[in-house]
Amino acid sequence: MVSSRPPILQFATLSDLASALGWLPSPAAMRLWGGPQLRWGASAAEVWETIQAAEHRVYALVDDGALQGLAQIVERDGRAHLARVIVDPHLRGQGVGERLLRAVLAQALALSVAAVTLNVYRENRVAIRLYRKLGFDFCDADANGDSLPMIWKGGLIETAGR
Ligand SMILES: CC(C)(COP(=O)(O)OP(=O)(O)OC[C@H]1O[C@@H](n2cnc3c(N)ncnc32)[C@H](O)[C@@H]1OP(=O)(O)O)[C@@H](O)C(=O)NCCC(=O)NCCS
Repeated sequence: MVSSRPPILQFATLSDLASALGWLPSPAAMRLWGGPQLRWGASAAEVWETIQAAEHRVYALVDDGALQGLAQIVERDGRAHLARVIVDPHLRGQGVGERLLRAVLAQALALSVAAVTLNVYRENRVAIRLYRKLGFDFCDADANGDSLPMIWKGGLIETAGR
């Protein structure tokens, strides 16, 4: 049956985070998603602590009660840093990531920050394409590490899910 209501963005719970951790098949996938500080095999509670989820809000995109994706906004030094973006593997390639990012970006911009940034691993081509499509661009063309900083340069923002 097709859901009649659009997906909504809400604050993620520990149980949402546990579900998202279950979408990660390997330590490499965990690193791509959450960076090097996360420990493979860590409980949801440990990851919740590590990413400081109580302080820096984690959002869940939920469709008719089912979790579709997760993303975090880390507000620091006058900027909003998007992190831990993930979509249910069964739903990828269908526009869910774009919907999630648009809704989270709208939340970030509502914070009246000077900039919206994120980091993405150089090899994460799918994520890079998604971020570029939404108006992010690389902010350090000479960056030579594994992780590339991106900054939002503007573009169409919908407030879907708010
Ligand atoms: C990155 C991720 C969130 C994208 O979610 P998604 O729901 O698949 O993305 P969408 O379907 O909304 O696609 C949006 C855009 O992403 C890109 N994209 C998505 N799937 C792609 C694929 N298989 N190949 C190439 N580009 C792809 C495209 O630019 C696409 O736009 P288009 O369809 O107009 O070409 C998802 O792949 C994911 O959860 N990855 C694992 C975790 C991760 O790497 N997170 C990023 C941390 S920085």
